[in-house]
Amino acid sequence: MTYSNILVEYHEQIATVTINRPKALNALNTVTLQELSQVVHDLANNSSIRVVILTGSGEKAFVAGADIAEMNTKTPMEARSFSQLGQRLMNLIESLPQPVIAAINGFALGGGLELAMACDIRLAGENARFGQPEVNLGIPAGFGGTQRLPRLVGSGRASEILLTADLFDAQEAFRMGLVNRVYPKEDLQEQAMAMAKRIASKAPIAVQLTKSAIYKGANMDLISGQDYEAEVFALTFHTEDRKNGFRAFLEKTQTEFLGK
Ligand code: CAA
Repeated sequence: MTYSNILVEYHEQIATVTINRPKALNALNTVTLQELSQVVHDLANNSSIRVVILTGSGEKAFVAGADIAEMNTKTPMEARSFSQLGQRLMNLIESLPQPVIAAINGFALGGGLELAMACDIRLAGENARFGQPEVNLGIPAGFGGTQRLPRLVGSGRASEILLTADLFDAQEAFRMGLVNRVYPKEDLQEQAMAMAKRIASKAPIAVQLTKSAIYKGANMDLISGQDYEAEVFALTFHTEDRKNGFRAFLEKTQTEFLGK
């Protein structure tokens, strides 16, 4: 399938999804949000894909936010629908069975940072710049930023970022735990692919259930989260991969995980 604002490339068991509106610094307009939602939906049903990388095209931006030119003419009702379209996309990414790595190759502002926060792992190029500058425009963040940012970096730091609209660099994002790793910008995509391959080589059902336990658990109390963990732990004992993984360890050999 071809999209107007998205590129999807497949490399063995890894899909790379690139937001491709470089002239608008990959800003998220309605079409881009819809196309991304379709891609994520398709990937959820594609069992040959084990890991997804999400990135932006061009040298400058991951995503510089929701599309300000498009939002400019929206009525309040249309703005609510637009916000909910973005929120649904972020939730879809979070609930995608496969892990998603954000390769943040430049500006990740507003909706761009919100998109990165919906991913499981965030890797940044050293040129990346982050922020939630919505209050400069007279609006709050609208794609989940007021909710995910405090959960990721704590309410004090999140409040400062959301209320001052100050931008910050990749090292600062790393220090606050918002990104996992920072790489020279020319190494970012290669490093993202290397990490994707490492994850893709693990037992896919165990990987997917681990992702699920992390995200379901984040919205549960500790005891309920542990109950869910025990259920998914038990589930893996039905799988060939679990049997082969244990056998390989005990016999000091290797196994290739098949996802069954
Ligand atoms: N929406 C639409 N177009 C955008 C855009 C956005 N979020 N960000 C950049 N662009 C466009 C610019 O309008 C410009 O287009 P033209 O060449 O046609 O004029 C092009 O991308 C290049 O941008 P600049 O010339 O501004 O590039 P720069 O290097 O001087 O500045 C920047 C880069 C600091 C990222 C600046 O573009 C900027 O501040 N962008 C807006 C960032 C922002 O406010 N994001 C939040 C949006 S609101 C939001 O996301 C709400 C939400 O939570 C859902």
